[in-house]
Amino acid sequence: MSDLLNDDFERRLIENTQPVRYFFLASALHHALDLGILAELGRRPGIEEDALAGALDLDPHRTGALLRFLRNEGYTTFTSDGTGWSLSSKGREVQTFAPWYEMLVGGYALSMEQLGDVMRDGTRYAERNTTKVGEGSCGIGAYDALPLVEQLLDHAARNGGPETIVDLGCGDGSFLMDLLVARPELHGIGVEPHAGSVELGERRRAELGLENRMSLVQGAAHDALKVDLPEGGRGICFMTAFVLQEVMQQQGQQAIEDLLASTFELYPEARWLVVEMDHQPLAPVMGTHGLAQTFYNPYFLIHAATEQRLETRTWWDQLFARLGLTTEAVANPDPRADSTGLQFGVLLKKG
Ligand SMILES: C[S@@+](CC[C@H](N)C(=O)[O-])C[C@H]1O[C@@H](n2cnc3c(N)ncnc32)[C@H](O)[C@@H]1O
Repeated sequence: MSDLLNDDFERRLIENTQPVRYFFLASALHHALDLGILAELGRRPGIEEDALAGALDLDPHRTGALLRFLRNEGYTTFTSDGTGWSLSSKGREVQTFAPWYEMLVGGYALSMEQLGDVMRDGTRYAERNTTKVGEGSCGIGAYDALPLVEQLLDHAARNGGPETIVDLGCGDGSFLMDLLVARPELHGIGVEPHAGSVELGERRRAELGLENRMSLVQGAAHDALKVDLPEGGRGICFMTAFVLQEVMQQQGQQAIEDLLASTFELYPEARWLVVEMDHQPLAPVMGTHGLAQTFYNPYFLIHAATEQRLETRTWWDQLFARLGLTTEAVANPDPRADSTGLQFGVLLKKG
């Protein structure tokens, strides 16, 4: 028998396997949210598991297993007679945070699975589910990036604000749509290379009745130059939210400089709104701040494994300055949603 098997062994086993528990829990919650199980339980408290499985077109045996797993983690409950399932308060509460599960788990579980392989072979990138990354990112943005962008648009409005936002790498377009709903005077053009995201966006746009105010184009950021825009770019604001980091790894720094320079050359009166993360994985806040530990620490890791490259705020500022761009305004998210100071947005103009 191992010498380690002393009377403290089980306590240490439990302590050391907590991350495994949370690995399974994060994945189970993601699927329960994504499949609509939590939403259906919320709508139909006391539902029997076969009825729940039938309503969502799921396998009854596996549905039961997932409900029991979540019950043992405090997210679902039996009704008092033991026949049906309901949500606990934790199960209701977690639904607000579905976009974080969608992006980090739905989008990047595959990347984490491949982490070992890409650690050995630095020429390869870990795969991800781009549709889920784009959709989750837009959902998160409703709480952090959207108020930040609104601050920058308020600033731009003082100098005759933009009439049309050209959102490059718009994901499923829901971030842009949130912006259009909040600002009825705006029009939007969403540009996104991933076909699955464009499809989702078209559906959501129809649901919101925004067809007359927003177009969606399948294309990459450099297709900004092909979009039909007013001469000089008056009233136009380009926007890239968490997208220049993608272009950076795909095409390099020069491509970003060319994109910004040629867009401002063609549209000298336009504005450009950039939202990025300040790549500070060793900042003191990383070891002390709850959101840095639950969000930014995983975020920084998966960006190194996938085809993206994060840079520091100073790096971005220097790049904008080299191109002769003026930073008209700077913003951080509302600290009620994110007080780490790691996310920033800038409003740029030529000269
Ligand atoms: C993290 S998501 C951001 C989505 C959205 N902008 C937001 O604020 O949440 C990154 C998006 O960039 C898109 N993307 C990747 N490479 C791109 C490129 N070269 N040009 C434009 N978009 C790109 C991805 O398909 C994905 O939808």
